[in-house]
Amino acid sequence: MAVVGALLATSALSLSASPAVAVDCSSVPWMDTTKSADDRAHALLDASSQYQMYRWLNVAAVERSQQTVFPNATYPAQLECTPLVFHTDGADGVRREPGTTSFPAPIALAATFNPDLVYDKSVAQAIETFQTGHNVILGPGIASGRTPLSGRNSEYFGEDPLLSGVLGAAASQGYEVDRDDIAVVANVKHYVANEQELDRNTSSSNIDERTFRQVYALPYEIALADGGAESIMCSYNQINGVYGCENEMILDETLRDSMGWEGYTMSDFRAVHSTGPAIASGLDQELNDPTYFTPQLIDDAIEAGEITLADVETAAFRIVRSYIREGLFDTPMPTTPNPQSSTPEHKAIARQLAEQGTVLLKNDGALPLASASADDIALIGPTASATPTGGISATSVCSMFNRFPGNTLLCEALIAPDVAIADRAGLGSTVTFDAGADVATAAAAAAAADTAIVFGYKRMGEFADPTSLSLDGNGDALIAAVAAVNPNTVVILQAGSAVEMPWIDDVEAVLHSWYPGEQMGPALAGILFGDVNPSGKLPMTLPKALADTPTGSDPSRYPGIFSNGSTTRPSGSSEIRQVNYTEGLQVGYKWYDEQGIEPLFEFGHGLSYTTFDYSKLKVRTKLDKKTGQVVSKVSFFVENAGSRAGTEVPQVYLALPDTAAEPGKRLVGFDRIELAPGAKAKVEIVLDSMASNQPFGIWDVDADAWKVIGGEYTVSVGSSSRDLPLTEEIEVDFSKLK
Ligand code: BGC
Repeated sequence: MAVVGALLATSALSLSASPAVAVDCSSVPWMDTTKSADDRAHALLDASSQYQMYRWLNVAAVERSQQTVFPNATYPAQLECTPLVFHTDGADGVRREPGTTSFPAPIALAATFNPDLVYDKSVAQAIETFQTGHNVILGPGIASGRTPLSGRNSEYFGEDPLLSGVLGAAASQGYEVDRDDIAVVANVKHYVANEQELDRNTSSSNIDERTFRQVYALPYEIALADGGAESIMCSYNQINGVYGCENEMILDETLRDSMGWEGYTMSDFRAVHSTGPAIASGLDQELNDPTYFTPQLIDDAIEAGEITLADVETAAFRIVRSYIREGLFDTPMPTTPNPQSSTPEHKAIARQLAEQGTVLLKNDGALPLASASADDIALIGPTASATPTGGISATSVCSMFNRFPGNTLLCEALIAPDVAIADRAGLGSTVTFDAGADVATAAAAAAAADTAIVFGYKRMGEFADPTSLSLDGNGDALIAAVAAVNPNTVVILQAGSAVEMPWIDDVEAVLHSWYPGEQMGPALAGILFGDVNPSGKLPMTLPKALADTPTGSDPSRYPGIFSNGSTTRPSGSSEIRQVNYTEGLQVGYKWYDEQGIEPLFEFGHGLSYTTFDYSKLKVRTKLDKKTGQVVSKVSFFVENAGSRAGTEVPQVYLALPDTAAEPGKRLVGFDRIELAPGAKAKVEIVLDSMASNQPFGIWDVDADAWKVIGGEYTVSVGSSSRDLPLTEEIEVDFSKLK
């Protein structure tokens, strides 16, 4: 049994103010691994004083477990034989730690449609997290892609509930991987309807109940049911006028009573607004120095009858039980951080993700570049190189965090595109670089080359929404100027979301690589030269124009309005911005389908250097009368009809019967299959009425439950949400159910 006290005393990682005295932990009941996590948690709380119990409700008090005095609070030191707990942000790597891997941003992970690889990445990241002295990852992030202007879109998995939920589950399972040498808790964030950065602390996401459950809560429901994350972070915004971190409807009622989830909730950083109401509504832990969850304020809330001591103990119990379940009590952190936790295997995963997450949007034949030719290549744009021009370089778009000063450690191992492309180019080929500061000079360089590759970038991230979908800098002008002089112009986009492409008809090929991480260069070079056949698919719709989006033409939907009807905050006012989700269920591709708006590139779109044929759709549906379960087996064949090996992501969509009043169709399944030239494979996707994604279900507001709908469904299968060569109508009969 670990002697945790001794570890505390000697750990270079420990931030504890006073070293603890070593005690033998094998004799304390909460360290008895033969007991259940529930029993161990109760044993610990039974042995704790009241204010030791309170400590669990605040992250600073948990992290500095032996520190007794905080700015607003004084506690006794925590009991011996309790773990060091340290949190870190994590979407694309261990934040601010040297020697760790910079993986692509989550939106690029989503574009892989590859839960297995997302799992592998999350395990690798959990190892690096633990080896650098942290055991709670503030991630994965899940949102619903309501507007492409949401600053943090790159931190999430796109606009579809199934894709987001499945990848959220894979990431949670990877972070919380069951291994003896590491122990990590996943904290899924930012729950919920946190769809914009503008006024994120002072806005209310106003949503009807059905939309809330089907669009915003469903990806969390899938991720929690299938991924089992122990922790959730509530978001800054209000939902229907009540802050997320004191909102009983979203916390206790939805997560616990309805979804049956047993983990603990944590606030976002300074997202708590009260003590009694927050704890009473189901918030367990405050993320920052004790502010609302201080001993004094908790006691006052008990005294005022807002909560009981038992409510506080329930919160502490849920936190401790989750730590025990994930092994935090039994797996002591390393005494010194590993200065090089990134390994060749982890880098290989980062590279595979960047390769599989890059989406070939358009290709009139310029790609792949001739592998061994001596053609000259002009690289244009500041983000092609690690050397900054006007402060912008490949590092600026490597990671979703690189917009922020002080995060210089991220992407420390970046291999920039110019280096990798020059390495890969054929003998005798000249690769030039022009940062594009002067459009005319860049165009001249492009004109002199056989192929011009222009890098267009857009930096987005926490704290702000961009105001347009245009590229940053002079990106659009640069692409237009290059395309005007070089008929072989290839565009590589590096952006966290959708961008408008006014030059789309004038260029030969476009790749969207999102924020592709440290292996950006080799991944892009591999795709450009055809060593890697692109297989990424869009996890979000790319509109022709911002006005086409669900929120694009109604200011009460985005950015939201104030009581005077204006979208501009009245001077000096802290009034809550009202953001009305009146597009309802019509989010993402469902909006475009229902409104008859043609996007520039649809959800699920992504080309390959080969082509795939789809055939022989069969759908067999069975009802188990006893359980009420309907299972539809959707099978079909996919054939590689070209001359290169390639990977296809077949997608299955379902349009519900009219009585369901659902917009368009919904993604209900997908796969990834590798096919040699000429090879054909049978794909089978199972739709289960009892699955967490509710393929046949809608949220029944009257019954407060999911309800399956009987009637005629349309099953469509193909390579994107709008390229669906196979279709079959099926009758699903739930009428025999009790
Ligand atoms: C962000 C969270 C993050 C937290 C701690 C907040 O500003 O919204 O995503 O986990 O800071 O860094």
